[in-house]
Amino acid sequence: MAEIGQDIARAQALLKDGKVIGMPTETVYGLAANALDAHAAAQIFEIKNRPSFDPLIIHTDKLEKLENWVQCIPDQLKTLIAHFSPGPLTVLLPRKPIIPDLITSGLPRVAVRIPNHPLTLNLLAQLDFPLAAPSANPFGYVSPTQAEHVNRQLGDKIEYILDGGACKIGLESTIVGLENEKLTVYRKGGLAIEAIEEIVGKVYVNEHSDSNPAAPGMLKSHYSPNKKMHLIDGSSKFHFRERVGILSFCETWSEIGTQNQFILSPKGDLNEAAQHLFAGLRYLDEQDIDDIYLELVPEKGLGRAINDRLRRAAAH
Ligand code: TXA
Ligand code: MG
Repeated sequence: MAEIGQDIARAQALLKDGKVIGMPTETVYGLAANALDAHAAAQIFEIKNRPSFDPLIIHTDKLEKLENWVQCIPDQLKTLIAHFSPGPLTVLLPRKPIIPDLITSGLPRVAVRIPNHPLTLNLLAQLDFPLAAPSANPFGYVSPTQAEHVNRQLGDKIEYILDGGACKIGLESTIVGLENEKLTVYRKGGLAIEAIEEIVGKVYVNEHSDSNPAAPGMLKSHYSPNKKMHLIDGSSKFHFRERVGILSFCETWSEIGTQNQFILSPKGDLNEAAQHLFAGLRYLDEQDIDDIYLELVPEKGLGRAINDRLRRAAAH
């Protein structure tokens, strides 16, 4: 198992030495390595068992550092970064040649974000290279929102996990870029589309699927744990059998044993629901049941990203 702690100097030393560590962010935990060192970054793919055509996001602490790694920042994207960074926003920018092909899967743009976590911002401030960091889960499994989740799944493959507590947002970052000069959302995430639209007006939402290789990380079954999963919405009627569990938005279900229920937010708050989503999927995946019912949440704010993850989890 990896060691879990808050030793930034140790994390820094490991990263400078080309090693991979677990790192907290406000969205989910990342599996981090020096993004300018292709050999270090290659280990991320190996540890996650991630296909090399799935590009990585690079993380830094300051907008001013970006010019070392990207050619330019279009005005609209600069406005968004200024408003929402540090925070759950990732932008796609034309990369400089210093960014290895492995990071972008050979694509002309690199994904960049400034995460909003004090420990990680402190670490990034002491590094002169950005950190490549995908979510710290084995490929195809649920993203980790606690250091312990990382340790259980990847602890035998890394030496150290920086412990930043439970992630405050709980959903991966929202990915935004320009397509034909139109602001486009490539992944719904921890920054609500409504919040973006308040600043820059209407944006285009690109719904990714298996057939769209532009964002390979959005494969349909990307968030599935091990059990059979079924979607339900508020109006569905079900005859629940034995051995089923439910991930519900705010209500308890009298048909199902309490042990096999996970309620995302008893008070019906979508931000709280987002925070608990992946821990809930993990919890139910560990119960002695065969099927998990996933209740869709209201399709607004972070609810859009939550439903996106639920639909992917249920798609086989
Ligand atoms: O919140 C987050 O974004 C977390 C934390 C750790 O920062 N990271 C994360 O990384 O979710 P990951 O690797 O699990 O998802 C990154 C996704 C890729 O699968 C792909 O869809 C998209 O970001 N992506 C990355 N680089 C890209 C690029 N150059 N062009 C298009 N899409 C890109
Ligand atoms: Mg991921």
